[in-house]
Amino acid sequence: MIRTVLAAVDGSEPSTRAVALAADIAARFEAELVACHVMTFRRLPDSLRRMAEIEHLVEPQSRRVVPTSYIELPVEASEDMRIIAALAEKFLDDAAALAHERGVMRVHKVALEGEPADRILEEIARRGVDLVACGSRGHGELQALLLGSVSHKLLQLAPCPVLAVK
Ligand SMILES: Nc1ncnc2c1ncn2[C@@H]1O[C@H](COP(=O)(O)OP(=O)(O)OP(=O)(O)O)[C@@H](O)[C@H]1O
Ligand SMILES: [Mg+2]
Repeated sequence: MIRTVLAAVDGSEPSTRAVALAADIAARFEAELVACHVMTFRRLPDSLRRMAEIEHLVEPQSRRVVPTSYIELPVEASEDMRIIAALAEKFLDDAAALAHERGVMRVHKVALEGEPADRILEEIARRGVDLVACGSRGHGELQALLLGSVSHKLLQLAPCPVLAVK
């Protein structure tokens, strides 16, 4: 019986394919779908800054960052942190919309902070997740890799089945 499916969301194409498959499975089983993104407040990679500009989350001239609606940030949050949080909301909102489109009734958006695989593994344990879906790769630069570090760690350590979607 599959009651809870967790999709690990980083906004990459493989991750979006994983959300679609997770949603189809969740819809089929009338399960809830947890869309989970982990923010890492290190320096923002150039590729994600570009993505934020393309998505109009940050204006290149004024450097104004779209305010977040449900992720709380400290008042002294840096511009990079604000962009990371704005992207997190966009990734989760897109995932939730895709899941609803594919017939999932119950979708939860979960934004966490820290080391991605560790936080996702904690969330899996906390919610008693029955199935995890992730992309085999994410935003990483090393195209030749078969698996990224997050998908690799999930496959190794998750207590439930893991779908790594190409
Ligand atoms: N911060 C994150 N929050 C939630 N899920 C994530 C996060 N980062 C990666 N994932 C999930 O893991 C999948 C694989 O991404 P991963 O980060 O392992 O590969 P990569 O970015 O290509 O390589 P690496 O990050 O190791 O350089 C993604 O498609 C996504 O499903
Ligand atoms: Mg990655």
